[in-house]
Amino acid sequence: MDSALHITAFAARPDEQASFARLEKELNLSIKYVKSNLGKDVVSEAQGSEGVTILGNCDASAPVLEELAKLGVKFIASRSAGYNNIDLEAAKRLGMRVSNARYSPHCVADFAVMLALMVNRRVMVALKRNIGNDYSLPGIQGQEMENMTVGVMGTGRIGRTVISNLSGFGCKILAYDTFQSEEVRSKATYVDLDTLLSESDIITLHMPLTEETRHIINKDTIAKMKTGVKLINTARGELVDTSALIEGLKSKKIAGAGLDVLEGELGVYHTDHRLDGVANDQIAILKSLSNVVVTGHMAFYTDQAVDDMVSCGLTSLSDFIRKGAAACEITC
Ligand SMILES: NC(=O)c1ccc[n+]([C@@H]2O[C@H](COP(=O)([O-])OP(=O)(O)OC[C@H]3O[C@@H](n4cnc5c(N)ncnc54)[C@H](O)[C@@H]3O)[C@@H](O)[C@H]2O)c1
Repeated sequence: MDSALHITAFAARPDEQASFARLEKELNLSIKYVKSNLGKDVVSEAQGSEGVTILGNCDASAPVLEELAKLGVKFIASRSAGYNNIDLEAAKRLGMRVSNARYSPHCVADFAVMLALMVNRRVMVALKRNIGNDYSLPGIQGQEMENMTVGVMGTGRIGRTVISNLSGFGCKILAYDTFQSEEVRSKATYVDLDTLLSESDIITLHMPLTEETRHIINKDTIAKMKTGVKLINTARGELVDTSALIEGLKSKKIAGAGLDVLEGELGVYHTDHRLDGVANDQIAILKSLSNVVVTGHMAFYTDQAVDDMVSCGLTSLSDFIRKGAAACEITC
């Protein structure tokens, strides 16, 4: 058997430990666990490792990658699906190879549908009332999915699974993507962006954050939507111009929102801020508005997905180093 590979796992959480321990043995790895997110302050922890595994909330910007390269790190395997936190151009320049994680799309797809149902049935409004012993009906009348049109933006692994989940509700499903999938065509109708915006009662976002998709939901695109539209975002916060969303909610153009991700969430989500007061002004405003469900980037968080994420990250590092190629490598 070849000798153990030395790697560093940043942002290692206790709930990942059982999967890490299993894979460490199976893949013959020697893992240094670092609780902190990768960043300039902790980058030196990677000393002696050829590869590192990180999460989507780690700082993998050019200056940090340069430090990693100086330490001899050649491979970065994210345990997250989104990789907008990694400067891919800098990685390429430094000769580093990068991979992301592929894991069950059901975790996020199920969550997106749950948020859509919660917003549609005004569940947050009802729950807030119930806390004060108010079980009255006025103001919490909902709508039935069967009578609605749902617009799915991004029909990759998660978007496609959302469409499959939604097909059981009998609603009309519109889809928008730059690449169209045959599988989707049997359950949804591909339309251009303006048609999706103007005809959907619920819009759900499932595209990656790129320069083209940043603020794809903004003042102008909101103006094209139906009055009373509901917005679900389980993809990336920066897809939405949050100020425009807040204006839309205040003016009642937008009747509700389900938001698992938010601009400026880094350093806020996945952390306990009970003793800090307001952790983020926009989150505080959104939580105060009627019919808005805010969750802290937890759509991925299932037992299956956590195991898949660790497995994918560690298998990629092992394959990069031992076989010279990893199935989840990001090439651009
Ligand atoms: N909330 C969470 O916990 C969580 C977890 C996993 C993933 N995500 C987010 O969900 C996103 C989608 O994940 P996925 O696995 O389905 O990715 P994917 O790569 O399988 O699908 C993304 C789709 O978006 C499309 N797309 C890209 N740019 C586009 C554009 N400019 N216009 C229209 N369509 C465009 C692609 O063609 C692709 O079909 C991820 O990028 C990530 O940001 C969030």
